[in-house]
Amino acid sequence: MKRIGILTGGGDAPGLNAVIRAVVKSADQHGGYEVLGFKDGFEGCLDPEGVVELSLDAVHGILPRGGTILGAANRGNPFARKVLRDGREVMEDVSDEVINRIQQLELECLIVVGGDGTLHISLELFRKGVPIIGIPKTIDNDIEGTDVTFGFDTAVNTATEALDRLHTTAEAHHRVIVLELMGRDAGFIALQAGVAGGADVILIPEIPFEFKGICETILARASRGRHFSTVAVAEGARPKGGGQVFRRAGDERMTARLGGIGQTVAEYVEEVCGMEARVVVLGHLQRGGSPTAFDRWLATRFGAAAFRLAVQQAHGRMVALRGSNIVDLPLDEALAVPKRVDLNGDGVRTARTLGLSLGD
Ligand code: F6P
Repeated sequence: MKRIGILTGGGDAPGLNAVIRAVVKSADQHGGYEVLGFKDGFEGCLDPEGVVELSLDAVHGILPRGGTILGAANRGNPFARKVLRDGREVMEDVSDEVINRIQQLELECLIVVGGDGTLHISLELFRKGVPIIGIPKTIDNDIEGTDVTFGFDTAVNTATEALDRLHTTAEAHHRVIVLELMGRDAGFIALQAGVAGGADVILIPEIPFEFKGICETILARASRGRHFSTVAVAEGARPKGGGQVFRRAGDERMTARLGGIGQTVAEYVEEVCGMEARVVVLGHLQRGGSPTAFDRWLATRFGAAAFRLAVQQAHGRMVALRGSNIVDLPLDEALAVPKRVDLNGDGVRTARTLGLSLGD
């Protein structure tokens, strides 16, 4: 029996279970392979209890489930792991322990399902000789090598539904409602959900905004008898000349936690536009729940394609969606530049053509 390992790293995204199931079912169908799952991302490679055998039974019924049966961790970087030495917490490179574990388990390859951070760690491990195959996942859709990551569609649907619901109550109460959405450095969720959910103002990290631009739009609507507005703001959006708003500072182990820009915008609107403004932070609701059919379809295709790469021993590559086809490309190429909303692209142009405010 040949052995394949799989882990899910970084923040979770709807569709992770569909990927795991696809890999296990493909291996079963092919024959001659068994699949081992590592718990909690790379942490599972360091924990003696961190490996589970993934049989067909283990993946039974998980296709529509959110989260990941393997657990995820976005703090598990083996190149910089917090460890206790002489009673003191220090950062240490434990990547060799991960490599030893993979060798001891005689894995033919390790399939890593992750976002930008997890896939960069995987690339470093590949450069140290680990036979890696990458699968891109993130609700933010910020991986350049693929047209779309799974999890994004579900997040956009959740955000759009939230805007639909907020729209009716904003109109009933003549309020401005600001919906703060995820999107650390890339505003794909806010832009797509904003357009799909009919937001009047859309603020994304790629376009620093001016507060007065937001108010002009809201007041212009009010002067046309629309005494309500909805604003979709990515948590990573920032005003021109200002910085992003954080809830908690980061350190070498944890990225800083964003949050609060929605409140800042609402306070400004209330004061300057003279209209009541409320904030809703959608947060992790965008990451949870059952994946849409599109995300199940994409995640399943990614899992099957990754298994085919495993059979071909095509390591150091990432599966991707290009147009309507699944392709694969070298990991370093896929991760060379982060993906951001194209300011001259169709999404931004659509918003501008419709007269939506992007705050600039
Ligand atoms: O990377 C996806 C993402 O949803 C970002 O938009 C957001 O900043 C981050 O995850 C939040 O991560 P956590 O769950 O660790 O707070």
